[in-house]
Amino acid sequence: MHFRHDGRLLTVHTPAKVNLFLEILGKRPDGYHELETLMVSVGLYDTLCFTEEPSQQISLRCFSAGATSSGTRGEIKTASDGDVPGGADNLIVRAAELLRRQAGVGKGAGIGLFKRIPVAAGLAGGSSDAAATLAGLNRLWRLQWTGRELHRLASQLGSDVNFFLAGAGAAICRGRGERVTPLDVPLQLHFVIVRPGAGLATGTVFRQWQASAAPHRVDALAECLKAGRPDRVARYLHNALQPPAETLSPEVTRLREFFSRQPVLGHMMSGSGTSYFGLCSHRGQALQVASRLRAARVGRVSVVSSRS
Ligand code: C5P
Repeated sequence: MHFRHDGRLLTVHTPAKVNLFLEILGKRPDGYHELETLMVSVGLYDTLCFTEEPSQQISLRCFSAGATSSGTRGEIKTASDGDVPGGADNLIVRAAELLRRQAGVGKGAGIGLFKRIPVAAGLAGGSSDAAATLAGLNRLWRLQWTGRELHRLASQLGSDVNFFLAGAGAAICRGRGERVTPLDVPLQLHFVIVRPGAGLATGTVFRQWQASAAPHRVDALAECLKAGRPDRVARYLHNALQPPAETLSPEVTRLREFFSRQPVLGHMMSGSGTSYFGLCSHRGQALQVASRLRAARVGRVSVVSSRS
């Protein structure tokens, strides 16, 4: 997360993530699933702008900033994008209202969201925006809440929010996803990511999941990452949500078949989908595969690298 204060305006750039590993260890009494997942944050950003408002209102305006690819900025569309839920349903508004209530703040905020991270994509754009809102408003309203206090609110908003709040380049997340152990990864990973035409709701994919006999463990992957071996990383990519997602989305299956013919180190769906990524040996390879994906018109394509 990057912050910039310019007079009354606070700007926050907040990243997307991809899951290199996601195992479900069982269903919990609260209806959620017990997870072991390894996430890396990648250089695809939403931008949030905050200004303090004297009234107690939280107002949100969303702009679709279009696709980013090859590091270029997409065109800004002026109107609110139909894909991005506006109003009280948006996780940004829920995060802002929660912090305002809990901190007893007598002010409001105007928030602008420039959306680049595809929605319903398994890239956790909504969670990243919520984390940016907690961290951003903590500064804007000069609350001086500690990380621990903000983490408590983050876990009430969604399972991935704590990962972004922690600001780690990579982490193993357990529990619902809210227990974050940062991981030191001494190498940059290069990805080509495609979000097909249709997304999937996280809850729908989880409900479709069926237990497997022997769960995979994250340790081997974590060791390869720590040792700086991307070639070995590919061997341990695993996502327990991919089989259920493929029963719901033929586009995910088509992407798996497409990627199996590409010269990538490995490939997999991210999170609950429907985004699909190829792990590449270098950025040039990612750009090459991206141009094939664009020619095949299979969805919105981005070339990104992990952040340290
Ligand atoms: O926590 P979040 O709001 O992102 O989760 C969205 C939905 O995904 C939940 O309502 C739940 O159905 C499912 N989920 C789950 N187990 C998790 C995380 C999410 O079942 N660990």
